[in-house]
Amino acid sequence: MTSGYARYLAAKTTVDDRALNRHVLAELRRLMPAGAPRVLEVGAGLGTMVARLMDWGVVGSGEYVLLDTDRQLLDDSRQWLRAWAAARGLRSDLLPDGLQAGDLRVRLVHAELGSYLETARGAPADVLIANAVLDLVDVPAVLPGLLRLLPPGGVYWFTINYDGESIFEPGHPHDDQVMRAYHRDMDERVRYGRPAGDSRTGRRLFHHLRAAGAPALAAGSSDWVVSAGPDGNYPDDEAYFLGSILSTIRDALRSRPDRVEPADLADWLAVRGRQLAAGELVYIAHQLDFAGRTRLAPGRQVRLGGAVKTLR
Ligand SMILES: C[S@@+](CC[C@H](N)C(=O)[O-])C[C@H]1O[C@@H](n2cnc3c(N)ncnc32)[C@H](O)[C@@H]1O
Repeated sequence: MTSGYARYLAAKTTVDDRALNRHVLAELRRLMPAGAPRVLEVGAGLGTMVARLMDWGVVGSGEYVLLDTDRQLLDDSRQWLRAWAAARGLRSDLLPDGLQAGDLRVRLVHAELGSYLETARGAPADVLIANAVLDLVDVPAVLPGLLRLLPPGGVYWFTINYDGESIFEPGHPHDDQVMRAYHRDMDERVRYGRPAGDSRTGRRLFHHLRAAGAPALAAGSSDWVVSAGPDGNYPDDEAYFLGSILSTIRDALRSRPDRVEPADLADWLAVRGRQLAAGELVYIAHQLDFAGRTRLAPGRQVRLGGAVKTLR
């Protein structure tokens, strides 16, 4: 693995495993098209979700596209997925544009999501996935184009959407000041020349999905909850994950003395860093998951969990 960000995404895997909402996941399983569906995951990063969905028996054959704007991460994903497959005794073969993992063809697409949708290069997909991504884009601008990649009745699963609440324990006098400033930074962020984030993406997705003609069929919380075990050690690589969260807050706020007093930020980071090293830091981030499908014309038949039903 070549970058610190790739290690962060790998470390996030166990945190997401616990957090992903099982009720919403059950809805995805129910909606999942039979056969060999085409899945498009946007902002897929290292590809940890395709590995998880194969491990959990949600996908196994067909095509799974990992789209990301970070070419280095996509390059890393080939090696990360090869190592994951090898650890499971699953045959994998590198291909010019991705890899074959068992019966699943994984394709890597290097693109920025907004321009991918605007330039109409978007290949159709049966299932859309976005994990920890929609809070990094301008959802009202992106969602209609994204959903247009689906056929009528196509399925989406949008998970780990941040929803405006981060809790660090034990409490610190500067918590409110720091988190208020961090949320403001999220709300005003511009990346790739576009608005890139909303600290309340989770709750707003109910409305955005409805407005885009694809109201959620299932929704539920997917909070990250990270704490050390009884021995004072964080599980797996989750101490690194927590350190990355603190670094992200530092990097967002250290050039904003107008929002947080530099001395207050330095004190907050120093205390949080010591608590992390001592295994005392607890971190909770509130997030929401959604599953649903685009509209089908009445009278159309759909396959739902193996049964064929007529829509009314
Ligand atoms: C927080 S990471 C999540 C990665 C992966 N979904 C996961 O959960 O491990 C967000 C990812 O979205 C990608 N990303 C952010 N904005 C994007 C955009 N506008 N177009 C395409 N990818 C984007 C980043 O490069 C990064 O890999």
